[in-house]
Amino acid sequence: MLTKSDLTILHLLTLILIWIGMSTAQNSNLDERVSSLLSRMTLQEKIGQMSQFNGFGGTIPDDFKDKLRAGLVGSVLNEVNTGTLNEMQRIAVDESRLGIPLLIGRDVIHGFKTILPIPLGQAATWNPDLVEKGARMAALEARSQGINWTFAPMIDITRDPRWGRIAECLGEDPYLTSVLGAAMVRGFQGEHLHDKGSLAACAKHFAGYGAAEGGRDYNTASIPENELRDIYLPPFKASLEAGVATMMSAFNEVNGVPATGNEFLTRQILRQEWQFKGFVVSDWESVIQQVAHGFTESQKAAAGQAIRAGIDMEMASTSYAQYIRELLGENIITMEMIDQSVARILRVKMLLGLFENPYTDPASFPELLNDGHRAIAREAAAQSLVLLQNKQNRLPLKNDLKSIAVIGPLADAPHDQLGTWIFDGDKRHSITPLQAFRDNAGKNLTIHYAQGLAISRTKDLSGFSEAVNAAQQSEVVILFLGEESILSGESHCRADIGLPGAQEALVDVLAETGRPIVAVILAGRPLTFRNILDKVDAVIYAWHPGTMAGPAICDVLSGKVAPSGKLPVTFPTHVGQIPIYYAHKNTGKPPTPQSWVKMDDIPADAPQLSIGNTSHYLDEGYEPQFPFGFGLSYTTFQFSDLQISGPRVAMGESVKISVRVTNSGQYDGHEVVQLYVRDLFADRTRPVRELKGFKRITLKKGQSDTVTFEIETHDLAFHNRQMKLVTEPGEFQVWVGSDSRANLTANFEIIK
Ligand code: NOJ
Repeated sequence: MLTKSDLTILHLLTLILIWIGMSTAQNSNLDERVSSLLSRMTLQEKIGQMSQFNGFGGTIPDDFKDKLRAGLVGSVLNEVNTGTLNEMQRIAVDESRLGIPLLIGRDVIHGFKTILPIPLGQAATWNPDLVEKGARMAALEARSQGINWTFAPMIDITRDPRWGRIAECLGEDPYLTSVLGAAMVRGFQGEHLHDKGSLAACAKHFAGYGAAEGGRDYNTASIPENELRDIYLPPFKASLEAGVATMMSAFNEVNGVPATGNEFLTRQILRQEWQFKGFVVSDWESVIQQVAHGFTESQKAAAGQAIRAGIDMEMASTSYAQYIRELLGENIITMEMIDQSVARILRVKMLLGLFENPYTDPASFPELLNDGHRAIAREAAAQSLVLLQNKQNRLPLKNDLKSIAVIGPLADAPHDQLGTWIFDGDKRHSITPLQAFRDNAGKNLTIHYAQGLAISRTKDLSGFSEAVNAAQQSEVVILFLGEESILSGESHCRADIGLPGAQEALVDVLAETGRPIVAVILAGRPLTFRNILDKVDAVIYAWHPGTMAGPAICDVLSGKVAPSGKLPVTFPTHVGQIPIYYAHKNTGKPPTPQSWVKMDDIPADAPQLSIGNTSHYLDEGYEPQFPFGFGLSYTTFQFSDLQISGPRVAMGESVKISVRVTNSGQYDGHEVVQLYVRDLFADRTRPVRELKGFKRITLKKGQSDTVTFEIETHDLAFHNRQMKLVTEPGEFQVWVGSDSRANLTANFEIIK
């Protein structure tokens, strides 16, 4: 006799079987559609699907129309005029022999018209739901104009803030990047790719792009295989698990082989090991750049190498179109390789529903930049702000202030607050901090504005006296410093990451007025700014916050929204400390506060003998300015009562770690509770700490809550000396707290 719970289980099993049956049927249906279409294609048409062309700024040249009719175009990028896009689709669908619709690609990186914080800023929210919501909003806006494929998320790990593209990535940590990258994929692609507002996402750049030597863009990357697999690749695997439709190969070489001609990366790891079913597009002309790399002797050889590696579509250059036929004739590539690439591309087009619905009617979508979208951008910007310093609780601003000075080159810079990669953003929609202050000021508050410096880089001090004047007339100075948007992004790297131009001098003259100063720093990367820390009371790191920078900054400064951002990347004291990141190795001679011999303390007549003998710099020590995960709130949080479910955990089981968090300060607030783990002894040395979980909580003042993490033993795996992914039995140490320096700790052991 079956009990009620047996029946429930049976019912569930039946549902699961039906679901598996349905999705297998759907997949085999899809496979059949793909192979039936493929079987009708000429070689020329197949090559067309593998070719992506740049747009023409709203017009379609006649020879391109002919290409579309002949089925020679698989995809177009950088065309945003909806009429033009619909017309291109119409020619492809109605006038080509097989009527295959186009993939329309665009870099929708952090918003389309409504601009969100730069991805590094979004990462500072540590809020996957919000990141997903932002990507959903961006997808709706872009799809409403005819775009169906975004080249995002960028999930390259980087530990070098000199690299301009750090702005576009999600920080230094594989776990945080995996969680947030997957959230972006879900946001862009929606519940189903064929839903009206979905974009195909593209995880990029596969792989190792963020390891560019010296932080100089496109530079060589040398990455030991275990680090590649443990640090650089996990975010791609997480995107794949989130269903990402496409990936993009990287510009750089990895260990001597360009990523775009790298069989090991694309064919072996991505396709064989991970069974990735989507397709891979090259980066812009990265197929033919294999010649410049000194890897292939000709563009023809480059095309052959990229196809052999498994790059399905060529972006911008035309070596596939020119040479595939010859390469086939010479048996350098096989027809099977071509068929597989084309099948993968057709599959994505079918999943997107483009065959049924190739056109776009903007009127059937929510309006661009509507209030709901702006509200998401405002929320994301507010949560991305990281409070780094708040002496004497200068913030939140008192609500009875009669006068404030708004000063600085980024106080009213509608373009710069948008950051890099804003092809479709428009500064006319930006609300700047100055404007927001003016909009919010009641009649009792006077705002004195002075730019001080015309742009962030200028060394022209002629605006200083006006700035000092404004400060003198005010009770508090809100000083907007940082970097213009042009100073970060692709190929916009810096060897010196200090505040550019005369900004430090501006701080000096303002500090002399004796007025309290709140510095708000807008930038595309971590900057070094320790020289100003003693001269200002509070520091908020705002990244490039996007369209709604002004209202979001006012929300936080006024205390309407509690600051909750946490650094997704380590901030060095000095550029010479780079690379500096929290998940470093211990070394055989780990530094301690006692062992650091400071250069200035060495007597002039010191004998030439070794001093200190630990891993530190004489001048810059070994600690960063601000650690990974760091960020203050207006309130304070206490962590206590760290509990582990058991001192021993069997391999294959999970362990629960819980902690009591109390809001012990004077304000309600949000905290991101972070869990770090170290594998104390292993076949290969392990980082001193690795982030393994985080939870964002909200606590009213005085309130407490228990936060519990559950990690499986396989979450602690790494690639050993045999390059096997293993979790080793043995001792593990955990820390829970509010940043990567958390000191509440406990141990557990994994047993076989
Ligand atoms: C080059 C960039 O590296 C890549 O990220 C981008 O998607 C393409 N250009 C297309 O604009």
